[in-house]
Amino acid sequence: MNIELVINGTSHQLSTAASESLLSALRRLGFRGVKFGDEHGLSGADTILLDGKPVNAGLMLAAQAEGHAIVTIEGLGQVPDQGWKKTEGLHPLQQAFIETGAIQCGYCTPAQILAAKALLDRNPNPSEAEVREAIGGVLCRCTGYAKPVQAVLRAAAVMRGETSIQVEGKQVDRETGKPEGESPVYMSTCFLDTTTQTRTLPKIVIAPETSPYQTVGKPEPKVDAVKLAQGKPAFTADIELRGMLYAKVLHSPHAHARIKKIDASRALALPGVAAVLTWQDIPRVVYSTAGQSDPIPGPLDSFSLDNKVRFVGDRVAFVAAETPEIAEQALRLIEVEYEILPTLFDSTKAMEPGTPILHDEAEYVPFAVCDPAKNLAAEIRIDIGDVNKGFAEADEIFEAEYVVPKVQQAHIEPHVALTYWDEDDRLVIRTSTQVPFHVRRQLAPVLGLPVKRIHVIKPRIGGGFGGKQEVLIEDVAAHLTIATGRPVLFEYSREEEFTASRSRHPMRIRMKTGVKRDGTITANEMYILSDTGAYGCHALTVTGNTGQKSMALYVGDGEYRKSPNIRFYADIVYTNHTPSGAYRGYGVPQGFWAVERHMEKIARALGLDPLEFRLKNAIRPGEFHPFSTAWNEGREPHPETIHTVGLEECVRQGKAAIGWDGKFGNEEWRNPSQVASRKSDATTFDVRPSTRKGIGVAMVMQGTAIPYLDMGGASIKMNDDGSFNLLVGATDLGTGSDTVLAQMAAEVLGVPTEDILVYSSDTDFTPFDKGAYASSTTYISGAAVVKAAQQCAERIKIRAAKLLGLSDYQTIRLSNKHAIAPDGRAISLTEIALDSLHHSDQEQIMAAASYVSPSSPPPFAAQFAEVTVDTETGAVKVDKLVMAVDSGIIVNPLTASGQVEGGMTQALGYAVCEEMLYDEKGQPFVKDFDRYHIFRADEMPELETIFVETFEPSHPFGVKAVAEIPMDGVAPAVGNAILDAVGVNIDENPVTPEKVWKAMKRK
Ligand code: FES
Repeated sequence: MNIELVINGTSHQLSTAASESLLSALRRLGFRGVKFGDEHGLSGADTILLDGKPVNAGLMLAAQAEGHAIVTIEGLGQVPDQGWKKTEGLHPLQQAFIETGAIQCGYCTPAQILAAKALLDRNPNPSEAEVREAIGGVLCRCTGYAKPVQAVLRAAAVMRGETSIQVEGKQVDRETGKPEGESPVYMSTCFLDTTTQTRTLPKIVIAPETSPYQTVGKPEPKVDAVKLAQGKPAFTADIELRGMLYAKVLHSPHAHARIKKIDASRALALPGVAAVLTWQDIPRVVYSTAGQSDPIPGPLDSFSLDNKVRFVGDRVAFVAAETPEIAEQALRLIEVEYEILPTLFDSTKAMEPGTPILHDEAEYVPFAVCDPAKNLAAEIRIDIGDVNKGFAEADEIFEAEYVVPKVQQAHIEPHVALTYWDEDDRLVIRTSTQVPFHVRRQLAPVLGLPVKRIHVIKPRIGGGFGGKQEVLIEDVAAHLTIATGRPVLFEYSREEEFTASRSRHPMRIRMKTGVKRDGTITANEMYILSDTGAYGCHALTVTGNTGQKSMALYVGDGEYRKSPNIRFYADIVYTNHTPSGAYRGYGVPQGFWAVERHMEKIARALGLDPLEFRLKNAIRPGEFHPFSTAWNEGREPHPETIHTVGLEECVRQGKAAIGWDGKFGNEEWRNPSQVASRKSDATTFDVRPSTRKGIGVAMVMQGTAIPYLDMGGASIKMNDDGSFNLLVGATDLGTGSDTVLAQMAAEVLGVPTEDILVYSSDTDFTPFDKGAYASSTTYISGAAVVKAAQQCAERIKIRAAKLLGLSDYQTIRLSNKHAIAPDGRAISLTEIALDSLHHSDQEQIMAAASYVSPSSPPPFAAQFAEVTVDTETGAVKVDKLVMAVDSGIIVNPLTASGQVEGGMTQALGYAVCEEMLYDEKGQPFVKDFDRYHIFRADEMPELETIFVETFEPSHPFGVKAVAEIPMDGVAPAVGNAILDAVGVNIDENPVTPEKVWKAMKRK
């Protein structure tokens, strides 16, 4: 049928099927700012305005939109600065989203902006609650909503014509007004003096070493923010190639079965079907889907397609067709005869004799200690010191078991890959991946191609959180391109994300801790039974990290501090569940749930202050990382000294921010109803007679990259105008890493960040980088960028010295786009660039460098939580989260605080509501954002981020990691706050109302 759609004021004639959604039609017409997030409109990524009201374009038919005014993000604002053509520039909402750091991956941004526009069009002066409600239908997995809310309020003020109170960059103590320069200095600024829950910029205890920096440490807008605010076609699925096919996968309905017979003839006969592939059609090559360096530290136990399925959702066949609808139809025509096999879902039974064995294939390649005949994917046995002696010397021994669930990364952009042959018959894989170089290396044997014939392009990524550290779907599209010779797009549905992707490892964790009566830990032991699901991707390394990071924090005190007694054992077993894998924090959130719940119980049992008890036993600067002599992800360990630990200051700052001293142990504060009843105001949740308040803490540490393994590379070249191209293999998955890498290069080269043009990442054009994981990009790739920039800077100074007639180039400094001599004479970088490229002794000023770190300096944090518990229902409301973090020097407070806010929000879901559940046949209960609840803007507690800077000496700018540590402490801090409120221990997260209610009944 032919219809007319009026989009952004312009009429479009369109031939459409009656069943085509408005989302599909808009994207087909080139409006790529409208995104697919899920099938049910629950992510809100497909939000557009219809007659001024926000609607889900994926939930209505294109034909239904005829006669209505459609507005997409492309209809807002204008592209700023188009050469001689002057424009009005961006819409105030787009501008505000850029300036406040409200854009991380940017996948949800067009929808958030449109939802906000609808609000501001009808209410120019909204309250914060109204803003939160207006954007509540658009899920964001990156930001924690603090900055988007600020952005909308800021835009509203600008649109009302008000002058915003902008105190950006002025570093003062908000309380004392202490000016910049006095140490310690606090930055506590905001763009608007609104009453929003969270300020745009965090409080920072600034390290004195940063005082000469011009660009590092400044809240620069993200380098990719403008295009993301405009909804430009920056993501994998935003391009469409001529002759492109659409791929779909037939997934197993059984948890464990052999494929006895498979007949694809009826599917192949369907008009519009280009290819159907089963296990009989492609080479049988064993590999691991875990995107890791060579050799993969885990078993090789996967095939693109196999004659056996091991979980509900496992692959059975691939289809490529002219449309997604035809591909779906073809799936239903594939006839499969299964031999149903016995199943294994209980990890505690995995190694018992007679249990069904998942991996009996001859091609299985083990790694380290691993026994598929016992369903053992990996085993870890680490003894540090003399644990038995430590227990013998303890006055008390505390033992308990803790359980953590399977949870999903839930990035709003699903996994998506586009493959095609280029004109040189090389296979191009355009994919939303965190590990482009690993994709190329790992898929080469699977596809039967040499590495050099594969070209991987990583465009913008709509979030990854470890889920895209998996070589998960690229092979599907690639096999189909090889089979058909045509471009193939394969995008997961949301249901596939929940049923056929990866997740956080669920674990049972047993703790045993020996303690003297004065609170000295004499020995600490952890045993983990980890469920890797059907495949062993990341099996060894995730669980190894669980113990390595969480058990390293508490070494004991006195003589025990000099020689800690720590035991960490783990068995990682196969079951017929959806495979586990990498998820932000990489095993550490599981560990700290156990360790920090356990420490709280010990402190309370011994009558010790929970903060002092922890600090007494926590690792200190100058001490060895206890695991560095015993473990390095299955590789050779190297002893490593920890140089910087900002934990005490984190505690001091966090305590003050949450008001610990006035609340902890304060019975009157715990009983708000008593206070409220005196005020005759017992009407809200917080002050119902049944409510009690509680406060809790957790201390955590993480790591920064994998020492002696993780490598980053960078190349820089100078352009005619004194700007620079920075090419990095590092993968910005929404974290802002492109921006902080640009800031570091800009600092060295003496130019503004906007003069560094970043390109990441592409296996043909950018240097190798191991990818975005292990919180390593700022530290590892950043060091490579600094090295390359320093080499360029040296060439610039040599040429400047010649032009200025100086004998010693080393006295020249680069600043403000100039090379400046000690006597004040200066020459611009543009003049130097023109001289080097065109005038004399011509050369391209350029450099490349790479970096591997010999250390993994841990960031530290104190996480505080305040909760209200309803004792009648067990409902828990988290009122406030405060995180004080030592992540070394903060290169960009805007992006770094966004990481902490977003991480705390994901961790909040881990604490109270997120869980993937299955029935007794392994069928997943959770397939959408209805049953899997992630926090909305209007459900958020107050968030506060504080950075306590320390200068990490192993990095040129003193940085440590920031991206993962916010995942670690929220759940145990909430668990401890519930204990504080109602005196019950919930040892299994998430702490649902049911668990709290039952525990209170048992009390
Ligand atoms: S910025 Fe919102 S989903 Fe990534």
